[in-house]
Amino acid sequence: MGISHGPVALRASRELLRTAGAGFHYVEVRCPATELPLDIVGPTNGLIQIDTQLSYVLALRYHSDLPRGVRLVRASEGAVLNPADFEPFRAERYARIPGVTDETLAARYARWSEALVRSNPDWCARVERDGEPAGYVFAEPDEGDGGAMLTLAVASRGSTVPGMAVYAAAACMMRENGARRAHSTFSALNVPALNVHTQLGCRFTNSTLVYLLDMAAAMPS
Ligand SMILES: CC(C)(COP(=O)(O)OP(=O)(O)OC[C@H]1O[C@@H](n2cnc3c(N)ncnc32)[C@H](O)[C@@H]1OP(=O)(O)O)[C@@H](O)C(=O)NCCC(=O)NCCS
Repeated sequence: MGISHGPVALRASRELLRTAGAGFHYVEVRCPATELPLDIVGPTNGLIQIDTQLSYVLALRYHSDLPRGVRLVRASEGAVLNPADFEPFRAERYARIPGVTDETLAARYARWSEALVRSNPDWCARVERDGEPAGYVFAEPDEGDGGAMLTLAVASRGSTVPGMAVYAAAACMMRENGARRAHSTFSALNVPALNVHTQLGCRFTNSTLVYLLDMAAAMPS
């Protein structure tokens, strides 16, 4: 996948886009809403909007206590964060790329979560309530500025614990690790995540429109 940032590709001709994307299966174009051209309704070069990502910051000073009955075990303390127990990430845009199956979707998030655990085992944890797995959280410290990125959060398969408890535990973990604020992005299509982030007290900072060009479909026949 080739990735481009900003509005330039939205105006590019079909031919230029095809040339720039040569060698890739897909081209993804990300354009912050604040940079969207106002003089065109949308791209007419084959790009199709597939997602809107919402960016947020969360002040962690209000998240010093774990929810009642919730326990957090970090990967660095020996917790197993088993990707086979993740709820599927069906609302995120990777799931909407043609050809992606439940298996390839699960494999993507398994690889990603395992890489996060290897890099920052103190920032990745299993969340439990009353001894049962409730979810898994994967964060990363920001270099030097007291922030943290909440990269992935996912409920345990079939768990009835509210997603809010999983996210609140993630906030506590990041605070305990010394971060003052957390930030990240997620898809506006992910309604449960939207509601959880609102309940947590996140402040939304930007939205980024995401477009996709399928290079196979874009080639002249
Ligand atoms: C994101 C995730 C952890 C949320 O957990 P969850 O247990 O499914 O979320 P909930 O069912 O508690 O939904 C959250 C809130 O949204 C509400 N909600 C969910 N779907 C809704 C809908 N269609 N309309 C209105 N409200 C809705 C719920 O009622 C709940 O609010 P409440 O706590 O006030 O009742 C879970 O969906 C998940 O693991 N998804 C896959 C991974 C993922 O997408 N992670 C986020 C990106 S990294």
